[in-house]
Amino acid sequence: MAIEKAQKFSLPLILIHWLTLLLFIGVYACIELRGMVGYGLRDTMKQWHFVFGVSILVLTLIRIVARFASKIPAIQPKPPAWQMATAHTMEFALYVFMLAMPVLGYLAVNAYGHPVSVFGANLPVLVGANEALGEKLMGVHGTIANIGYVLIAVHAGAALYHHYFVRDNALRQMLPYG
Ligand code: HEM
Ligand code: HEM
Repeated sequence: MAIEKAQKFSLPLILIHWLTLLLFIGVYACIELRGMVGYGLRDTMKQWHFVFGVSILVLTLIRIVARFASKIPAIQPKPPAWQMATAHTMEFALYVFMLAMPVLGYLAVNAYGHPVSVFGANLPVLVGANEALGEKLMGVHGTIANIGYVLIAVHAGAALYHHYFVRDNALRQMLPYG
């Protein structure tokens, strides 16, 4: 008997995917645009940076469970093997990125000697104060943040290319409708 293939990603994976995109817009915007607002608002934007970033971490952990718990659909028509290999490598890189960024940011704040404070509530301190470590972690956080722009742009570009030029179902299987 032929194995039935799922036509779409599972609904939890679809919802988490697009919610994560919104959180990424938030996490980048809050920190990149903080220079454009008055001093009073800067701290609030940094707090939201933490909230969005920690939310990405939590959602990614749920997403990994959801991914193992559901069938992953196959793109129709099937792309060449090299494209599938590139796509899998890219997905893996995106997962590493989504896990590494919040962890680095969180540990850097702790290493600078502060708890991660989210609107008055302090999250647990995971490493002791160590200014030099804080500098290192923040350096890596900033570098990977820049690499993240490239990863996301290439990933989104590939999705749109598949939809509008190759005309396969890659994008449709990540949409909740249609
Ligand atoms: C996916 C999640 C995240 C992304 C994409 C991200 C991205 C960024 C970017 C682009 C910057 C600016 C770097 C620069 O100006 O050189 C930044 C700075 C920073 N991030 Fe994150 N971040 C994330 C999560 C977090 C989390 C969870 C925390 C802490 C809980 C955090 C703490 C910080 C801190 C303390 C700074 C420096 C802010 C300052 O200059 O005053 N980040 N992050
Ligand atoms: C406009 C932005 C985006 C578009 C158009 C887009 C589109 C897509 C599409 C069409 C798929 C399904 C590919 C397939 O059929 O195999 C997909 C999967 C995926 N996307 Fe995106 N994406 C975007 C943003 C992001 C962002 C910001 C992230 C994370 C940083 C991300 C992470 C992933 C991951 C990890 C997968 C694999 C499926 C999963 O495990 O959830 N995407 N994306």
